[in-house]
Amino acid sequence: MGYNVAIDGPAGAGKSTIAKLVAKKKGYIYVDTGAMYRGLAVHFLRKGIRPGETDKIAEACEDAQVTIHYENGVQQVYLNGDNITEKLRTEETGNMASFSSAVPAVREKLLELQRTLAAEHDVIMDGRDIGTNILPHADVKIYLTASVETRARRRFDELKEKGADCSYEQIARDIEDRDYRDMHRDIAPLKQAEDAVLVDSSDMTIQEVVDRIAACCA
Ligand code: DC
Repeated sequence: MGYNVAIDGPAGAGKSTIAKLVAKKKGYIYVDTGAMYRGLAVHFLRKGIRPGETDKIAEACEDAQVTIHYENGVQQVYLNGDNITEKLRTEETGNMASFSSAVPAVREKLLELQRTLAAEHDVIMDGRDIGTNILPHADVKIYLTASVETRARRRFDELKEKGADCSYEQIARDIEDRDYRDMHRDIAPLKQAEDAVLVDSSDMTIQEVVDRIAACCA
């Protein structure tokens, strides 16, 4: 069994940025489970399926194989043998992933993959249900959050920097919608595990958050 750090929280709380830095500092592998859900979402979108089409999503799971490889320590996501890592971070894919991750067949498909990685390696794994469902016996559990305003502002600045035309209000609404869906679905909803350490990064620098989390780890 590897040493397991679970880090859950809402979209845009900075989980992946922080988890990557903690992984580097501590020598863990960083496992981004959101990327796995996004990988399946790419599959559904390629088949022309729309977010609400639950039955089609469940059926389409049958011919999707998501695998993970590490290249220079960076997670690469393969869909049926194709490296689709670069295609995962669009709004369309994120939106589809938020809907399709509520479908039981989708979650079942990824459960073994996530548990196997954690059993074989020292990992810091980020997602929504890692501490509550995937790794209930994780050595360390963190619930990383930040206010909607902070998360929307960070996302807005990031998109602006890339030259995108976007509205702060729209981004804030999208974040609230996604939070609601992630927290209110029937299966493995986002919530803080009872034994998780709560870290609110709204008024913290990246370095402060990394140090705080690293201090919880052996
Ligand atoms: O963290 P992210 O934005 O890449 O995740 C995309 C979607 O996948 C998110 O809206 C909810 C879902 N997800 C999940 O249900 N469980 C996880 N462990 C990780 C992500």
